Amino acid sequence: MFIHPFHSHTQENFHVLNSDRETKIEAILQQMSVEEKIGETCQITLDAFLKRDAKDQVIEPIQIDQSKLDEAIMTYHVGSILNVGSHTLSLEQWSVVMKAVHQYYKSEQTKAPILYGIDAIHGVNYTVGGTLFPQEIGLAATWNPSLANQFGHITAYETRASGIPWNFSPVLDLARQPLWSRFFETLGEDPYLAAEMGKAIVCGYQGEGKMDNEHVAACLKHFVGYSASNSGRDRTSAWIPEKYMTELFLVPFKTAVDKGAMTVMVNSGDVNGIPGHINYHLLTEVLKEEWGFLGFAVSDWEDFIFLETVHQVASSPLDAVVKGFNAGVDMSMVPSAPHYKTYCKLMKQAVEEEKISMERLNDAVRRILRVKMATGLFDKEMNQAKSYPNFGSTAFKESALNAALESITLLKNEDQLLPLKGSEKILVAGPTSNNLTYLNGAWTHTWQGVDTTYNTKGCKTILQAVQAKVGSDNCLYAEGAELFLENDFEACRLVNQADFKTKAEQSDIILLCLGELPSTEKPGDIRSLNLLPAQLELAKMAYESGKPVVLVLVEARPRIVNEIVSGATAIFQTYLPGDYGGTALVKLLYGEENPSGKLPYTYPKYDGVIEFYDHPKSDDRHKSNGFNAYDPQWDFGYGLSYSTFTYSNLEISKSVLMENDSIIIAVDVTNTSDRKGKEVVQLYLSDIVASMVPAGKRLKGFKKIELKSHETQRVEFVILIEDVKFADNKGYWMFESGEFKALIGGLSATFQVK
Ligand code: BGC
Repeated sequence: MFIHPFHSHTQENFHVLNSDRETKIEAILQQMSVEEKIGETCQITLDAFLKRDAKDQVIEPIQIDQSKLDEAIMTYHVGSILNVGSHTLSLEQWSVVMKAVHQYYKSEQTKAPILYGIDAIHGVNYTVGGTLFPQEIGLAATWNPSLANQFGHITAYETRASGIPWNFSPVLDLARQPLWSRFFETLGEDPYLAAEMGKAIVCGYQGEGKMDNEHVAACLKHFVGYSASNSGRDRTSAWIPEKYMTELFLVPFKTAVDKGAMTVMVNSGDVNGIPGHINYHLLTEVLKEEWGFLGFAVSDWEDFIFLETVHQVASSPLDAVVKGFNAGVDMSMVPSAPHYKTYCKLMKQAVEEEKISMERLNDAVRRILRVKMATGLFDKEMNQAKSYPNFGSTAFKESALNAALESITLLKNEDQLLPLKGSEKILVAGPTSNNLTYLNGAWTHTWQGVDTTYNTKGCKTILQAVQAKVGSDNCLYAEGAELFLENDFEACRLVNQADFKTKAEQSDIILLCLGELPSTEKPGDIRSLNLLPAQLELAKMAYESGKPVVLVLVEARPRIVNEIVSGATAIFQTYLPGDYGGTALVKLLYGEENPSGKLPYTYPKYDGVIEFYDHPKSDDRHKSNGFNAYDPQWDFGYGLSYSTFTYSNLEISKSVLMENDSIIIAVDVTNTSDRKGKEVVQLYLSDIVASMVPAGKRLKGFKKIELKSHETQRVEFVILIEDVKFADNKGYWMFESGEFKALIGGLSATFQVK
């Protein structure tokens, strides 16, 4: 498989109507009964047709219950299936499932094939032997769209190898609520970074606009505002003013839709009192009408049901179905039995009673068929047996390793402790130091990712990677503390402190790995952002030994570490780096590779103060008396290297920017060290005076470059009028004349907008 270098060019686009395809769709639509059309909009889970034992437990290894599948497809005309059962399947098992699912269309018993969808969140995490990348937050930390694009191609290839043409990814929610259990599934807090990285992933998934049986349809999640809940708890209310909906949350989605993303999944929460699933304005007026989205919107898990039982915006299941469908949700992830049968019956009733129009039903089915056609499901050639020799290949694994290497972010390196020489006796300690699932996080072989049964063979924990590097004699191990679940919440306790202290005494340096239990969605809810006290205690015990401590964070969200930052000599943020995270960390630790990851979010310093780098300028009041509201632990975009870079000769091509015009801003970046390294050159713009309090600064461009020792490169950015726009309180983009500042690497230049 050839992996294209990623260029953000305009592509042959799903976004453009293809008249040949539309004619075929109309012909199929005309032959379909109302029941068949309704079935197209119904999605069920694999578990709904697996054989069960007398206790209603799925029998292992899984077996298909043919009568249940027949009923779903032949009686209810179900058009889509999702998910894995409780754990990852082998390629052979997937092939059995796919054969069973596709035989109906192949034998012409149905008018349309089944669209199967899966959560291949950080690689094909539900297929044994798949290539597992860092979670999205780590991918964002690479600031390297080319790596995100490779991740997309590889994940698509391995998803297709499993027989699946549709991936419920990428998450394009913005990380604006660090308590949220799905923070790690995002591409960070910034709309521009998330849009650029998200676009690269979507292009990778969908084959740069050229769909074949090595690529899959993307699903942008979760449209929109899920990540900004007020409480931080999963699927709860968010308040998002129109201004910030436009300026922040919609940006990555719009960018990906413009690139031809084929599907979106709807936000399970509610924004400004309106559940995502009945938000006609967002789903129909914005997404479909204003943006011209031609694909379909799928509900999230059971969300039509929740409109009645949780959100209480529907008086009955029928009312819920009508409200959701008419708002613009085209497919409902019902997804279990017998609920899916109820859904189909209610839809039938709604159509008969004209609560849902035939026009609306046809519109939804047309959208679904369009995706089925675009992914090649109707196409005999595309569905011919094909081998996927690159599945789990060394080249794919190297790409995942590179992503981990470029994501891991060095946050502190006092006295140039790092890179280590390799001759030191090292104590590897802490609850996340010897566990592969902790490096991967949730959506790894199982939903919550805690079961180690299915771990990829041959992948190393941090401890194993250190041992492989320096030898077991030079590497001591003491867990020190363990993470566990207590009454459904994360907990941590110290273990064998005496052993930890003795080994600390015996070593020259301590690598202390802290972090979180894998979790997502509701099970990942936490009550405080503080790192659990036992982990803080362990860090203090390590500091008391007097040995230099390298702190390693393995975490899904930025847990508060303020108390233990000053005691550490060096700090690495690994995020959730995936199967090759242990190996990558060790390569960075011992200087085989040079760190180049940068934080894709503002790392908070205090549990009670959550802030973002692009805060309104007014947040900076009282700066002078030390009561500065903006006081993060580490800034967005921050990350150290073993090289040193200097910026000079900032030049701006014009001092005035007019509409339909552009300014070029250029800067020299020099590697002043003796070591080759990568630097992320970041362009921020700052509006000096505006009619609404301006953001302090906003990211408007970035380029990751590699510089040899003492090399200089000139880096250019183009500034357009789009880049100086902001949204008014009604959510409309606008720009105003006045002065702006462009900031790159500590240098700045001003220009006027006229
Ligand atoms: C999650 C989605 C996921 C879906 C299917 C839901 O609970 O919110 O992100 O795609 O399940 O597994």
